[in-house]
Amino acid sequence: MSIAAPSPEIIAKAAGILREGGLVAFPTETVYGLGGDATQDSAVEKIYAAKGRPSFNPLIVHVGAREWVAGLAQPDGRFDKLARTFWPGPLTLVMHRRADAPISKIISAGRDTIAIRMPDHPVARDILAAAKRPLAAPSANRSGFMSPTEAAHVTSSLDAPPALIIDGGKCRIGVESTVLDLTLHVPAILRPGSVTRDQIEAAIGPIALGADDPAAPKAPGQLASHYAPRLPLRLNAVEAGPGEVLVGFGPVKGAFTLSAAGDLAEAAANLFAVLRQADNAALYKSIAVAPIPNDGLGLALNDRLRRASAPRN
Ligand code: TXA
Ligand code: MG
Repeated sequence: MSIAAPSPEIIAKAAGILREGGLVAFPTETVYGLGGDATQDSAVEKIYAAKGRPSFNPLIVHVGAREWVAGLAQPDGRFDKLARTFWPGPLTLVMHRRADAPISKIISAGRDTIAIRMPDHPVARDILAAAKRPLAAPSANRSGFMSPTEAAHVTSSLDAPPALIIDGGKCRIGVESTVLDLTLHVPAILRPGSVTRDQIEAAIGPIALGADDPAAPKAPGQLASHYAPRLPLRLNAVEAGPGEVLVGFGPVKGAFTLSAAGDLAEAAANLFAVLRQADNAALYKSIAVAPIPNDGLGLALNDRLRRASAPRN
């Protein structure tokens, strides 16, 4: 296994591995992805195996340009508006799959839909351009645990890391993309992320229930416990209880902090790295996390923290 800095040679090497059906971990603006050729069943099977991911949890397909979508899905006017506004970027769009899409069926986990995004990271874009094919890329961690936001997290997150991990430094956003279901008459957010409900509504008009609403549709395959550290986690803590390590935010000072300034974007970028530090700190029995405001990007942060604190599967 090697962790390599991006260079034209490394990008070409990554594209070669992917075209031959192998896996490569690479940075995106959200989290590190474990990439494989979305057109090859065997590559997609390798992704599920490496992550220990349940086969009922479908994968996102990453494209190098908006034009690639026409061959994969049945985009409509809402897609055009959203892709023009937010791509490349952290918005995944679920659409009806074209019957003749050259994409492994395993990716859709038995559905007739496909989730697609165009990442906004130079390394991810260079790899897509060089591989010239859509790539499946879930977060590069064992299923159910915290997503990697640095290259070194990938090696500590997978039992069998891929032969090549490309190091693009720390991910800018730090939480996974917003997933929006466009197959519904009224689109719905299935997973909150850094593209917010207000931003989406400004582009295409009203969408269904907020992702914070318990009645809202959920992304398939997402279990209550997800993004979990090793230690148990308590939410909305203003001080550390016995044996707890406190992760602060804004006025709540902790042994670690997501953002001393109370800035949600900074907190998202730090989230998984700080939880890992707290998880690895000696002597503690559990993690306590300060309250995070539940609006805008705070919805995505609270979604991840809630799942991280849920009883383990
Ligand atoms: O930011 C991200 O999206 C990262 C980076 C690496 O790009 N990728 C990522 O991929 O989080 P993944 O495969 O772990 O996310 C899949 C999410 C899940 O919540 C899944 O249920 C949903 O997208 N999803 C995938 N295909 C779907 C489909 N056909 N219908 C509904 N939801 C789908
Ligand atoms: Mg994941």
